[in-house]
Amino acid sequence: MLLGPSIFPGRFCNINRSIPILFAFTVLALFFVMHGATSMEGEDGIRPFHFKYTTVKGYFLQSEDGTDPLSFDFRNQNFGLIDREYDTDGADSKEEQWRRFEAHARRLNEKSENGVQYKVLFLGRHGQGWHNVAEEKYGTHAWDCYWSMLDGADGITWLDANLTGLGQGQATDVNELWKALLPKGIPVPETFYVSPLTRAMETADLTFKGLNLPEDRRYDPIGKELLREAIGVHTCDRRSTASHIRKTFSHVKLEHGFSEEDTLWTADYREPASARKYRLEQLLDDIFESDGNVFLSLTSHSGAIGSILEAIGHRPFGLETGGVIPTVVRAEKVHGERAKPPHEPSEGPLPCASPPEVLPN
Ligand SMILES: *[C@@H]1O[C@H](CO)[C@@H](O)[C@H](O)[C@H]1NC(C)=O
Repeated sequence: MLLGPSIFPGRFCNINRSIPILFAFTVLALFFVMHGATSMEGEDGIRPFHFKYTTVKGYFLQSEDGTDPLSFDFRNQNFGLIDREYDTDGADSKEEQWRRFEAHARRLNEKSENGVQYKVLFLGRHGQGWHNVAEEKYGTHAWDCYWSMLDGADGITWLDANLTGLGQGQATDVNELWKALLPKGIPVPETFYVSPLTRAMETADLTFKGLNLPEDRRYDPIGKELLREAIGVHTCDRRSTASHIRKTFSHVKLEHGFSEEDTLWTADYREPASARKYRLEQLLDDIFESDGNVFLSLTSHSGAIGSILEAIGHRPFGLETGGVIPTVVRAEKVHGERAKPPHEPSEGPLPCASPPEVLPN
């Protein structure tokens, strides 16, 4: 009662004061509605649904059993696109292969059943990094049990490794390939996802910068925490801080909730294959839930891409550094949480106390 007069000194003033309050409530309400709409995750990051993924064969040579991953070169095979007709080819079936493919992929989505969607993923492995050079130099066993745990040695630094000159060249080769295929109507990715490790962001930049891309498909990469390589033990797979990334790769938009420090990496536990696959499945669930686009680029790493291929039921297909594999994925939304694999011991050999001898080649 005592406060009455000062809170409600007059009608007009009262209304004027409630406008900012009402406005604040509206903004808050909108924030919660929009936030809820972009992510269905619970507080523990678990969704009440997941997707069942399958690779649709018949579009890219890499998914066909007869293609040898060791000798196949996507660079001189049109990314692997199979030259064929589609049931969606219009009267003008003389159109360029890539344009007919894009129309077909969009049509697949338009006529798909409820809860089913199709996406075309361009999965790119980073070009050669200094950690690749080091692993070759010391041999995989010595690398895994000793050298990978250091930040660098012998004049090489591999903590969150940079690309080598060769690695930059490999990424530039892929840039040339896109350049050559753009006039042939290759669908430009509508979203560009990158791992937040330096070598992946460098690769994506060299691959997509400077291309003559349409106005609505500009190269605006999004950094995704879960798109990174196997986590733990190896310092090359420990990411830099968010502020370092923002300073060095200012055009990379780090996803909502991206932490300043790398909280996932620990020096004594290396993510086993089962956990890695589950993590990449969660990444796919996130993307398939929130991204309405059909053509996506994901720039990542050999282990992570191996897990994605496994998650989407693609045959194993090893990529050399700088390699790219496109794939058509069907995703069906199903009720219930994704089953989490049981906790497994750290992957890789026990640490060696001293550097193992370098085996002669
Ligand atoms: C990695 O590359 C960046 C940018 O070119 C450079 O500033 C940095 O010194 C490099 N780091 C190492 C360890 O070579």
